[in-house]
Amino acid sequence: MQTKINQYTEEINAFEPKSAEELESFRIRFLGTKGLLKDLFDEFKTVSPEEKRGLGKVLNEFKKLAEEKHQSFKEQFESGNSGQASDLDLSLPGEGFTIGGRHPLSLVRKEIVEIFKKLGFTVAEGPEIEDDWHNFSALNFPEEHPARDMQDTFFVKKDAENGDIALRTHTSSVQVRMMENGKPPFRAIMPGRVYRNEAISARAHCFFHQVEGLYVDENVSFADLKQTLFYFVQEMFGEGTKVRFRPSYFPFTEPSAEMDISCTICKGDGCPLCKYSGWVEILGCGMVDPNVLENCGIDSKKYTGYAFGMGIERITNLKYQIKDLRLFSENDVRFLKQFQSEII
Ligand code: DAH
Repeated sequence: MQTKINQYTEEINAFEPKSAEELESFRIRFLGTKGLLKDLFDEFKTVSPEEKRGLGKVLNEFKKLAEEKHQSFKEQFESGNSGQASDLDLSLPGEGFTIGGRHPLSLVRKEIVEIFKKLGFTVAEGPEIEDDWHNFSALNFPEEHPARDMQDTFFVKKDAENGDIALRTHTSSVQVRMMENGKPPFRAIMPGRVYRNEAISARAHCFFHQVEGLYVDENVSFADLKQTLFYFVQEMFGEGTKVRFRPSYFPFTEPSAEMDISCTICKGDGCPLCKYSGWVEILGCGMVDPNVLENCGIDSKKYTGYAFGMGIERITNLKYQIKDLRLFSENDVRFLKQFQSEII
């Protein structure tokens, strides 16, 4: 028995585990319930009483040695420091961690806001759940206008006092709130989310974002509107971008126009984006209809104003050449992370 103990002692002294697995095999071999230590103690029971005294001491020391060896390596492995240079490769690259970026629509909204701020515009917001008055009636929508139809608008409930309640279909409702609650001059842009009852496709969505603009004061003219929008386009899409205005119709502006810019891709030569016309439409605008001013308690003999409204998705699509509107709301990180460098 003494010989065995000597042999095992040598083995234990020489033992240098390189992994937690090796240490575990050691534990099983020596300290396990069917291990060598257990065998030695069993054998110890059979030796003569004379031998027991000397051997007992040796056996107990051997037990202590095995346990201490196991314990010290166990602690090393648990603290993550195996003491083995081979486990720690300082030349490996560190583990990078990804930080979030801003959503492309937020980036573009911010850019639009910054440009108009330079021209003295303030920023205002209004509710997404609107009553009939602010979304339609005050804006001169006739009773039979198709936008008032269930097909186009998400109605929330019928309200005897305020008329129908709906998810706003445009941010023009915020102009009404602004004019009702203040006195001219007004010079503000109003970004926000709007809703329309549309089937979701690459080109249409049931919610999207707009920025409304309003400037009301004495002697505001269409020339002011043109110059403001021209400046915006140069800042947003680069010097030299051309603009053109086409007559159009909106119930709340008279005269009304739509504004096109020279195609951001082909610069006017013709490409699939602009359908080979060289122009892409970016917004609607016009002079605030006197009826709208009066509906909001503003003297239309004294004041005039212009308004415009643009879709943030549209501007973003043109800026980043995004062809499918659904990408904006799917939260696919492979799409979103392409904008991460633009954290502002
Ligand atoms: N509200 C219009 C829309 O949703 C956009 C618009 C056009 C806003 C002309 C305006 C405007 O203020 O003058 O399509």
